Amino acid sequence: MPQTDPFTYNTSRKLSDTELARVLRLDAAAELDAMNLYEAHVDATDNEDAKKLLRFIAKDEKEHYALFQELIRRLDPQEAEEIAGAASKLDVILASPTGLEASEEEVEAAGVA
Ligand SMILES: [Fe+2]
Repeated sequence: MPQTDPFTYNTSRKLSDTELARVLRLDAAAELDAMNLYEAHVDATDNEDAKKLLRFIAKDEKEHYALFQELIRRLDPQEAEEIAGAASKLDVILASPTGLEASEEEVEAAGVA
């Protein structure tokens, strides 16, 4: 069974907040990957005990992902700004008949607070 060498990620210095945000995005991606894996395994079995456990763990991964996202948002003001404007931008895209009618300018303007 492959295992990660516990010293692989040791560094000789502490991370800046910018570097930390980048590292946390990798951690968040690992949570997404785990979530998808567990949910795929739920779909792949009829064993109800396994399904219950996998659903429970997948739910935890969603919480972990959300917590990483929140810390990243706090570390990266630009990302925080993008997240803050995303709902309004999405509304403009979804209000167009196929999504292609929304111009880049309209979408960008919708995201400005
Ligand atoms: Fe996790």
